[in-house]
Amino acid sequence: MSVTDQLALARIIHVLGVVLWIGGVAFVTTVLLGSLRRHHDGKSGLELFERLEGRFALQARVVTLFTGLSGFYMLHLLNGWDRYQHPHFWWLHLMTLVWLIFTVVLFILEPLFLHRWFLEQAQRDSEGTFRRVHRMHRILLTISLLAVAGAVGGSHGLSLFR
Ligand code: HEM
Repeated sequence: MSVTDQLALARIIHVLGVVLWIGGVAFVTTVLLGSLRRHHDGKSGLELFERLEGRFALQARVVTLFTGLSGFYMLHLLNGWDRYQHPHFWWLHLMTLVWLIFTVVLFILEPLFLHRWFLEQAQRDSEGTFRRVHRMHRILLTISLLAVAGAVGGSHGLSLFR
């Protein structure tokens, strides 16, 4: 298979991963959290949220893995490791940062203590916990969307900040 074909295939996997992953984050942030906060009291809303997001966490782990692998494989095919040294490729830095944050949260923090911390906080102050969780999701969604916009623009020739 030619390098061009391999690159195209890796790009397909990469973008499908991004759609499933960031699309899920967008749904949780703009639809699910808002509606749970409005229609449930803090405690029952948080319990439902934990259950629903728990299912999404598995999907998120798998697609985070594929998105990262396909991303690094594209960098390898493009011989593009030195892009990390140029501020012009800020969108590559941002993509990698988003991937790192989610990888650390999904594979390390959540299984180790985030889940327990979340339950403890929810017992103590469910409204406040809901608010903080919603704020964190909004921040993560915003930087993820910036990374998507930057990556599509950057890899198709848009040269802001050159
Ligand atoms: C380990 C992390 C990642 C690496 C190493 C990586 C690497 C890459 C590379 C090398 C490209 C192709 C650039 C080019 O054609 O010049 C690319 C494209 C892209 N990446 Fe990533 N990426 C990573 C994570 C992410 C994440 C987390 C997102 C979403 C938030 C993302 C979204 C995209 C998008 C939308 C494209 C553009 C596809 C296109 O329009 O052709 N990437 N990535």
